[in-house]
Order: sequence, then C-alpha cells, then structure tokens
Amino acid sequence: VILTQDDLKKIAAYKAVEFVESGMVLGLGTGSTAKYALDRIGELLRQGKLTNIVGIPTSKKTQEQALSLGIPLSDLDRHPTIDLAIDGADEVDPHLNLVKGRGGSLLREKMVEGACKKFVCIVDESKLVKHLGGNGLALPVEVVPFCWKFTANKLQNLFQRSGCVAKLRNDCEGNPFVTDNGNYIVDLYLKKELGDSQIASDAILRVAGVVEHGMFLDMATTVIVAGERGITIKNK
Ligand code: A5P
Repeated sequence: VILTQDDLKKIAAYKAVEFVESGMVLGLGTGSTAKYALDRIGELLRQGKLTNIVGIPTSKKTQEQALSLGIPLSDLDRHPTIDLAIDGADEVDPHLNLVKGRGGSLLREKMVEGACKKFVCIVDESKLVKHLGGNGLALPVEVVPFCWKFTANKLQNLFQRSGCVAKLRNDCEGNPFVTDNGNYIVDLYLKKELGDSQIASDAILRVAGVVEHGMFLDMATTVIVAGERGITIKNK
C-alpha cells in the first residue's frame, strides 16, 4: 500500500491523541494535520472513551470544527494552564524547533502552545529540515496593517544577507489575507538559511509593527513524525 501525505498526517495525529487523558485541558491546533487530531478526539468523546475534556482552540476555524464535534471549549483567560497541545508545523529541525503559520494562525498558536505543559507536534516526514528558513518556504510574520510596507521593508532589510524577499500574503481573491486578530501576514522568503534562529527571532520582534513570527523555538516537547517506514517519536 502506498501511503499518501494525508494518510501520514492522520497516522501522526491519531498517535498524538493517545497522549490525551480524560479531564485534560487541551490546546487544539490548526491546519490539515491538527484537523485529524480533532476528529479523533471528537470520536473518542462520542464513544465515551474520553470524558471531561476542555479544548482551547488556536483559531476561529478550529473553534468551528471543535464546536461541530461537540468538544467543550474555553480560552486562555479562564484556563491559563494547558495540559497538552497537539498541532502541526511547516518545518521541524533536529532540535525540535519549528516554523509554523502557513495557515496564518501563528499568534494564537504561540499563545496557547506557550501555555502548555506538553506540546506534541505532529508532522509527516516532508516537514523535516536541517535548518529553519531558507528551504524555499516562507517564514511568516504577523504585522499590524498600519503601514505594513514600512514594516515589510524593515524585515526584508534585516535579512538582506540571506537574500530575503518580504511579500504580503494575499487571500485567494488577491486581497490582503487577514488573520483572526485583524492583522496581515508578511512572508519572508530566504535564499540562504536563517542562521542563528534565536538571534533572528529577537531581531524580528524588535521591529515595531511586528506582532509575532512563526518560529516556535524550544516549545515542542515531543514531535511525532509519520513516514513511509512508520512512526518516529522525538522527545525534548
Ligand atoms: C497554522 O497557522 C499552521 O501553523 C499549521 O499548524 C501549520 O501550517 C501546519 O499545517 P498543516 O498541518 O496543514 O501542514
């Protein structure tokens, strides 16, 4: 049997849900991989195999899916400590540092996953990289709409030596993509690797107009990778 990328996403997601116990406060991720985890949690709730779960969604989309599955919801104000979060990623490096935000939900994801005792990241093997950034994929940065070009230029100049091109993300109609928080996303495309991601992170966050970026450094406690040859579980 040849497994598709979707099969692998589902395998990783189902494995992560094995970590879920009744009574937990759960961070609910966003994206096509996390969606499978939510489906599974919903199924186990319906079957009565899980009880007393509270979910904290990382996007409006996830909130809708959770509601449709009957997963009881709360937020970080009421539940500032989360037992376990399950979410996907766009890139995973050997130190379990991540790039997230291709789906545009990076700010809420970072808030929720930063409040977790355990953060299980679920990916298919195509997401594994040696170094973050510079893999032809975007490093997403959430910015305020006010004078976004000014902010985008500052970001591009910051990584000039890596051949950075900063592009405003558009929706499918060609209008600026607007996040759940009413902000824009500037995608940074780098020709060369980012280098020290902690230094890059600090530099991005010092730019006025930046709300948050998609590097999740030292946050994942476990990464579950599903590949053609089976599942690998990497722990911090
Ligand atoms: C959402 O903003 C993202 O951080 C996603 O978690 C990430 O893009 C992974 O998405 P997929 O599981 O759809 O690849």
